Amino acid sequence: MNLLVVGGGGREHAIIKKLKENPTIETIYALPGNGGIARDAVCVPSIGAKDIEKIVDFAKAHAIDFAVVAPDDPLALGCVDRLHEAGIPCFGPDAKAARIEASKVFAKNLMKKYGIPTARYDVFSDPAKALAYLKETATFPIVVKADGLALGKGVLIPQNLQEAEAAVRSIMEDKAFGDSGNEIVIEEFLTGPEVSVLAFTDGTAIVPMVSSMDHKRAGDGDTGLNTGGMGTVAPNPYYTPETAAACMETIFLPTLAAMRAEGCPFKGCLYFGLMLTPEGPRVIEYNCRFGDPETQVVLPLLKTDLLTVMQSVENETLGNLRVEWSDGAAACVILASGGYPESYEKGKEITIPENLPANVTVYHAGDKLLEDGKLVTSGGRVLGVTAAKETLEAALKDAYAAAERIGFEGKYLRRDIGKRALRALEG
Ligand code: AMP
Ligand code: GLY
Repeated sequence: MNLLVVGGGGREHAIIKKLKENPTIETIYALPGNGGIARDAVCVPSIGAKDIEKIVDFAKAHAIDFAVVAPDDPLALGCVDRLHEAGIPCFGPDAKAARIEASKVFAKNLMKKYGIPTARYDVFSDPAKALAYLKETATFPIVVKADGLALGKGVLIPQNLQEAEAAVRSIMEDKAFGDSGNEIVIEEFLTGPEVSVLAFTDGTAIVPMVSSMDHKRAGDGDTGLNTGGMGTVAPNPYYTPETAAACMETIFLPTLAAMRAEGCPFKGCLYFGLMLTPEGPRVIEYNCRFGDPETQVVLPLLKTDLLTVMQSVENETLGNLRVEWSDGAAACVILASGGYPESYEKGKEITIPENLPANVTVYHAGDKLLEDGKLVTSGGRVLGVTAAKETLEAALKDAYAAAERIGFEGKYLRRDIGKRALRALEG
């Protein structure tokens, strides 16, 4: 079989490495891929993840048997719709279903209409009305969200009226996130541990993956700016079997039913960003795709062949498949370029020892291979160092030990990935 994976980050590297465990796969093409992915797949750096027409032409020309569209942008742009029109089976939601991530207004209205628990909210398309609301009704902190995709940066949590007014102005008037800020959601600030649950679904059947915990802030102790994610652990100890059962009943199944009722059944990986509040689990956000870097800790724990799972999603036979997971734990530590998520330098040579332990995998996110074979940094998040082991404590130890041995100038990492999870495990 010839496969195509759209995307070029750590998440895509984790998907590709897992797919490669299937011996019937001959070639995997990655569009565009990256420096590290080039060791596992045929990368096509000239075709970006948003070049939908080029992706479809490439798939037709290379006899692609199955495509995986991983990032949010191509999904929202209808990459899966176009591949299907060309007769190519694929994994991922169509554009209508991808709105569950691409429009926060769509997602919030869906939850309200179908009684799915989430933060109370209001939608504004007129900045004057949003500002009046803040002045007259709001309590602080409050959460201000741009409607559309914003590279994971479209959520602001102002602590007072002044900050909230500035947030509204920057999103709606200065267009800090472009047209993504034409509408905004202003919502209630919730508290509690956060859990990421990625789930395979064919529109009707759902198979939640092992739960995980992201570490979104740049600095230790959850300080500093929001990032794409500085590290992850799986499973998430706050996500007990009781909580999982409650989420299935009040969130997961109702969400699938709501999408079917709206005429846009969701097929692919649906990501539930949950907050376990004192009043019960609430949806913070949906993503229409695998999370990054959640995928780098979740897929290593998958025992069932990933291609078989993805094909059963596409064929709508997921309900007949038994999907198995390892009992162990995994931890991923992100190695970032110094300065990230603000400005940083690129082109630093990366050295990775050959003899890392077998339970450690390095997923490449922001790097590229030069013509002379040198691997150099090319992005903010450069590598994700994942270790899988029987316990979270052991996995973290191995991930950090390997992270120490990998070098590039300006390497930055958080030192406290998994600490909160370990504390929760200790009770
Ligand atoms: P998002 O970009 O939607 O993942 O949001 C980024 C982060 O903002 C989330 O991971 C939460 O930590 C936080 N957040 C979003 N919505 C809320 C909310 N209603 N209450 C508290 N925190 C929130
Ligand atoms: N790690 C959060 C996300 O993928 O959106």
